[in-house]
Amino acid sequence: MRRSRQTLALLTALAAVSVPTALVAAAPESAAAAADPCAAWMDRSDSADRRADALVAAMSQDQKLHMLTFGDPPWFTYWGTAGHVDGIPALCIPDLVLSDAGSGVAGLQIATTVFPSGVAQAATWDPALQRRIGSTIGAEAFAKGINVMLGPGMNIARTPYNGRNFEYFGEDPYLASSTAVAVIKGIQSHPVLADAKHYAFNNQETERMSIDARVDERTRREIYLPAFEAAVKKADVGSVMCSYNKIDGAYACENPEMLTGYLRDEWGFDGFVVSDWGAVHSTAPSARAGLDLEMHAFAAGAPATPVTGSAGRYFGADQLRAALAEGELTQARIDDMVRNIVRPMFEHGLFDEPVSPGAGPYLSDVSTPGHLAVARRAAADATVLLKNRDRLLPLQPTDGGRTIAVIGWAANPVGAANAVSGGGSSHGSGLPPRVVSPLEGITRAALERGDRVVYAEGSNVVDARLAAAAADVVVVVATDGSSEGTDRADLGLRPAACVTVFCQAIPIEQEDMIAAATAANPNTVVVLDVGAPVRMPWLADAGAVLVPWYGGLEHGNALADVLYGVREPGGRLPQTFPVDEAQNPFAPEAYPGVDGTETYSEGLLVGYRWYDATGTRPLFPFGYGLGYTTFGFRDLVVRPTAQGARVSFVVRNTGRRAGAVVPQLYLSSPKRAGEPPKQLKGFTKLTLRPGEARRVELTLDRRDLSIWSTRRDRWVVVPGSYRVAVGTSSRDLPLHGRLRR
Ligand code: BGC
Repeated sequence: MRRSRQTLALLTALAAVSVPTALVAAAPESAAAAADPCAAWMDRSDSADRRADALVAAMSQDQKLHMLTFGDPPWFTYWGTAGHVDGIPALCIPDLVLSDAGSGVAGLQIATTVFPSGVAQAATWDPALQRRIGSTIGAEAFAKGINVMLGPGMNIARTPYNGRNFEYFGEDPYLASSTAVAVIKGIQSHPVLADAKHYAFNNQETERMSIDARVDERTRREIYLPAFEAAVKKADVGSVMCSYNKIDGAYACENPEMLTGYLRDEWGFDGFVVSDWGAVHSTAPSARAGLDLEMHAFAAGAPATPVTGSAGRYFGADQLRAALAEGELTQARIDDMVRNIVRPMFEHGLFDEPVSPGAGPYLSDVSTPGHLAVARRAAADATVLLKNRDRLLPLQPTDGGRTIAVIGWAANPVGAANAVSGGGSSHGSGLPPRVVSPLEGITRAALERGDRVVYAEGSNVVDARLAAAAADVVVVVATDGSSEGTDRADLGLRPAACVTVFCQAIPIEQEDMIAAATAANPNTVVVLDVGAPVRMPWLADAGAVLVPWYGGLEHGNALADVLYGVREPGGRLPQTFPVDEAQNPFAPEAYPGVDGTETYSEGLLVGYRWYDATGTRPLFPFGYGLGYTTFGFRDLVVRPTAQGARVSFVVRNTGRRAGAVVPQLYLSSPKRAGEPPKQLKGFTKLTLRPGEARRVELTLDRRDLSIWSTRRDRWVVVPGSYRVAVGTSSRDLPLHGRLRR
């Protein structure tokens, strides 16, 4: 274990302030139960429902109320976790220990693997790999004494400016749903619950604690809710986090339509709703609306601020008792809340394999070589190759002796420590310091091949130009520091150093640096460690452009793998890259809102749907990404089925090396359905040898063809002719067919 003494001392001190308290009085026990007081709900062969019923029936009121709010000390001071509820040993109820999240076991956790961020996970378009990432995260969480992972985040990238887009799965509900399901299944393959967040319409950080989102019903159903719905219906997610914002005037965490209507009554959610940290503003209205567990970042009584959210505690025992006494809350609802919490705990093994947080797990190093290998593979497979002039990449084998100039703050170990993960609660600490920077990764790989690396920090453009001009190949690395808590000001590259939600801007002019390098040397590869689209005024001069997003601990190794062709850049864009800020303007009422309200007036026209509907050509379209080989598509066959259709076609590797292809299926509904011009409804990822051809089949089900009818208040299939298009991005669709309904 490599770990600096100072870091350890600091974190040990931090962990030491926690005082676990688990002493809640047990219910009076019968003589029979005394022998084994938990026998009625600890039989593993019983169903989760029966076990939960038996437990709730045996609990005292004190014990029930104890389960509904956070234990002290809160946020990050309890063994670096985001929060916890102390267990009740007398009832065999384990601690519930919650941690952030999307890029791995994050927050103030140490010695864990930082994976590529959410947007990068989506960019792999590879459910099997996403599931593996999830399952590796689940394993590390469990080893750390954590049994609720507060992710994945699945809000839709409505604008490129949302500071948290890097945590989410892009702009398309189909891709976001598929990614969310895979990651959740992976996490929950351990005795660890996943948490679908932030529910819902939390699509900007500007005024995130109070902004009131106005979204019409059809847009809700078709764009913003599907990932949550899939998380419930297809992945059986154990918990859902209600968000900070308001929805039609009511806070998300006290919104019955959201927490009970869609979630429980329609989708059949049988886990618990947990509040975002400080997102609760009332006792009885929140509990009645469907909130089960309250969480807060700070101790009870903390003042309300734009950072902390609401004041204090609303689900304290006294407050809940008062609400019961006033008749504002029923005992049945309290029982339901407790049941909603313990039921998924039974179902996913949290009772049978309880965690015990403490110094041991907190300090233990859970990041194994195997986990790092998953992170490395994921980072390469998420990397999107946007441009590759004259096949500059992969670097061809030579006898060595090439000079490679690596340029940029983000390439060195200090910069990379900040550039491999976005800011905020999902930020992986990277401690002990073991981020593999681009400089380290490329240097190691170059040495093995007899190439030589020179480095320039590049904030002085003269240095950047000189280093680039003297090299055979240039790798210039730039970053943009997106973070929870703030939106991006524009599509520029603004580096930052972040610790949790606190970020410090680093004053480096990276666009000038890139322009200097690309102008000085045509063999320049531009690497963008970003969480969302950025503008590229220097694009015409760049030899190649790679977007690894925030690549996690193994970023430098994965980048070297991609540069030297050990692995392909496997990513495809989960988000449209606009030419510049002017291309897709938002009226202030739509974003960031006026007088505390944001109106989603663009309706269904989010991301590529808007670009298609307005005939606008983006810089790079949704779904786009090059590999190191080429593919041909032919023989589209669309066979109607009772539910939808089977769509098959042949893909052939027409290039000279093996490579992965992501065939994408876009559906256009009959005009009178009033849908966007086309929408992603299927994809797969497969690897083919040179010359190899394979027939691929994708299935469309009834829901894929349906639209939400506001008039009939249900999903309907509009009769008419549907167009099926298949290809390698939303703007490259060589195969077309028709389907009649
Ligand atoms: C974030 C959540 C996070 C929570 C706990 C909040 O500020 O919005 O995503 O899970 O903090 O750290």
